[in-house]
Amino acid sequence: MLFEKEIAKVGYLSRSVPEGIDLKEAILKMKKEKNAVILAHYYVSEDIQSIADFVGDSLALAQASKKAAADMIVFCGVHFMAETAKILNPNAKVLLPDLNAGCSLADSAPEAEFIAFKNQYPDAVVVSYINCSSEIKALSDYICTSSNAVDVVNSIPKDKRIIFAPDKNLGMYVQKVTGRELILWEGACIVHVNISMDKLNVLMEAHADAQVIAHPECLPEILEKASFIGSTKALLEYVQTSPVNKFIVATEAGILYKMKQAVPNKTIIPAPALESNSCACAECPYMKMNTMEKLYNTLYYELPEISVNEKTQAGALKALNNMLAI
Ligand code: 13P
Ligand code: SF4
Repeated sequence: MLFEKEIAKVGYLSRSVPEGIDLKEAILKMKKEKNAVILAHYYVSEDIQSIADFVGDSLALAQASKKAAADMIVFCGVHFMAETAKILNPNAKVLLPDLNAGCSLADSAPEAEFIAFKNQYPDAVVVSYINCSSEIKALSDYICTSSNAVDVVNSIPKDKRIIFAPDKNLGMYVQKVTGRELILWEGACIVHVNISMDKLNVLMEAHADAQVIAHPECLPEILEKASFIGSTKALLEYVQTSPVNKFIVATEAGILYKMKQAVPNKTIIPAPALESNSCACAECPYMKMNTMEKLYNTLYYELPEISVNEKTQAGALKALNNMLAI
């Protein structure tokens, strides 16, 4: 077993799972034996969402990570989310099925460049979207998610200047809702900005009875068309509570799984992407790096494990707690 674990460190990702195995059953069994909890974002594949202990948006997942009583958290999402789980629950072993599951927003803000940017506005309060590295979190006063960005900005005294990073589109949306002028970092989500305005117009004409609902990471012209704007969780709740029966959903298509389960009698149409892929819709390539095979290997080898250095951990935790207190 030890020998296998050593091999695993070198090539566990490419190792095939035992032949003929029922992956779902094996994962659930191992999860129980190891006192692990599987947390998953709405954007991962349906098979993973179907066996996860908890599926949620970034805020709900951060809260679930914090209160998880398990020895091990297997985070089916992207790297910054697993890092956040480790920061909020440092005693748990936090695993991410694929270490390459990054995020274009987190990548857009390297630490050195962010320090130089921040130094230009020494008196500004820094609000960072949770989609950033632990180093950027540690350089921030507050973290926010798409669920609470408006509330976080509104909680800051009106006379304070605010740096908002790294998502410019979310920042512009928050600016519009709060009426506050924000100093914006130039980052974007490659998935949400890939939603095609032209194709959306065609789809809206074909489905004149549908309402467009959108995630605030979308471009402003897409948000202009939306009857409702919110985080993935808010979008899911909206389709359940709205009297409307048909929606065009401008976010990552993974959310459609839970939406169709929640409102099987309503029509849910994914907004079209600029570039064609298998579903002709918006799909996050990083979220889709999570597979059942990798999840099995992650649980089996207990790798790859997420770690955050002590100093970064303390700074990032402070900023995250400032958010959770709001
Ligand atoms: P939420 O989970 O806050 O809706 O954010 C969506 C997203 O892009 C996560 O990476
Ligand atoms: Fe990052 Fe966008 Fe993927 Fe979310 S959907 S993880 S913001 S690249």
